[in-house]
Amino acid sequence: MEKVLILDFGAQYSQLIARRIRECSVYCEVKPCTISPDEIHAYGPIGIVFSGGPKSVYEKASPHIAPEIFEMGVPILGICYGCQLMAYTLGGTVAAATEATAREYGKTVTTFEKSDALFSSLPAESITWMSHGDYISQVPQGFSVTAKTDVCPTAAMSNPQKKLYGVQFHPEVSHTEHGMEILRSFLYEVCGARGDWTMKDYRETAIASIRSKVGSGKALLALSGGVDSSVAAALMAEAIGSQLTCVFVDHGLMRKDEGDEVEKAFSKWDINFIRVNAEERFLSKLAGVTEPERKRKIIGEEFIRVFEAEAKKIGRVDYLVQGTIYPDVIESGLGNSAVIKSHHNVGGLPDYVDFKEIIEPLRMLFKDEVRQLGRELELPEYLVMRQPFPGPGLAIRVIGEITRPKLDLLREADFIFRDEIAKSGLERSMNQYFAVLTDMRSVGVMGDGRTYDYTIALRAVTTSDFMTADWARIPYDALDRISTRIVNEVRGVNRIVYDITSKPPATIEWE
Ligand code: XMP
Repeated sequence: MEKVLILDFGAQYSQLIARRIRECSVYCEVKPCTISPDEIHAYGPIGIVFSGGPKSVYEKASPHIAPEIFEMGVPILGICYGCQLMAYTLGGTVAAATEATAREYGKTVTTFEKSDALFSSLPAESITWMSHGDYISQVPQGFSVTAKTDVCPTAAMSNPQKKLYGVQFHPEVSHTEHGMEILRSFLYEVCGARGDWTMKDYRETAIASIRSKVGSGKALLALSGGVDSSVAAALMAEAIGSQLTCVFVDHGLMRKDEGDEVEKAFSKWDINFIRVNAEERFLSKLAGVTEPERKRKIIGEEFIRVFEAEAKKIGRVDYLVQGTIYPDVIESGLGNSAVIKSHHNVGGLPDYVDFKEIIEPLRMLFKDEVRQLGRELELPEYLVMRQPFPGPGLAIRVIGEITRPKLDLLREADFIFRDEIAKSGLERSMNQYFAVLTDMRSVGVMGDGRTYDYTIALRAVTTSDFMTADWARIPYDALDRISTRIVNEVRGVNRIVYDITSKPPATIEWE
């Protein structure tokens, strides 16, 4: 299998580079920059990418690389720090930039030398994304400058004879207009990639490595029914079958039919699937509680207790599986060292379970890759495309006191909302949408009678990161259908409102 090696010099973007290369259908792995030339030789890559990094190459403490690597005949692409390192190691000059000379942050107009293999398919000028405080003032012998900006004399350089290429900007970030084409040119034109790697291959590689790690051991996974834990469970199920136990705590706070859907999706694997029907337990603990943080705390604690009781029945396991994905790793701010996701709904979970090691089979993948892998594992589309759903579930979407009838009412209203959005073909135009049961009741009129019923709020947002969000512009006629159906079909509701606040100042959830 053709492989590309990404050497990490401490960049924020190493995994993003990996993801872009996978998007070009080429397998790649990120390794620390301390790897030796012999190890690289044994790995046998068709190309190497040096990532960026926060240091200056001329500082003593900065990461360096054995010069023999440039003599191996393997094509190399240096990005930002990686480009400067290539220049510095091969005899060029790297200097600290000032405002006037080449200090650049953000989108920058860049002019390309179109005869260069990396840029032949690009327009002569386009936007790149820069983030550097040093610059290459002189390229090494045998190299020529292949891109420039108004202030940076070396926005890219190359030595085609030796197949060495460097770019000062970041082709992997989406702000670089033709970044993917540049990476593709490196892979296909310079490294001669065939591009025959697919998510199916990823699945096979991941399964093989799980099998060799787990051997005949036992693994335990807390399945929430969300995309990440479901895909992690499916992958583990495929790899180790009955050596896997999935504990699915049904707290009774899920959306309509969700618990059954999850159970059904996993029925095709020969695993120990334990569904704990803990609705009564959760609802009795939540009785009379109105304060949202208190609800969250109760649910978190109860979840641990239920899971712990199940884990005790199973006894010691060798591995605890977690559905951590790459954005969780970045969010926890620990770079490439090991992290356990501190899921705020199952906080502290591992402390209560007797296990030897944690396995995180998705920790290198981005969300959309996780979904793609889920499809490869033949998980149903409703699981693979599931929206984000808070761990405490509908408990935080029922404002005020939680009761079973209120949960049922909300489940129905929420189902109608989702059903109408699907029927209108609007699903892909927003990132999250759901109904909220407010604790407000008001007077209405139905038939000839007076009603005094609840108000349902509809929330729908567009967002890329869930940190900020805008309210979705759902067409009026769709809102009208949703509103009519909910008041007609859900007893106890006589008014529908649509939330038109962005985040900030509001949040996505009510609660
Ligand atoms: P807010 O309401 O803070 O929500 O704007 C941002 C995103 O986070 C989701 N959310 C949660 N996800 N456990 C989760 O896994 C939780 O406890 C939780 N609370 C909120 C929310 O649905 C939205 O997508």
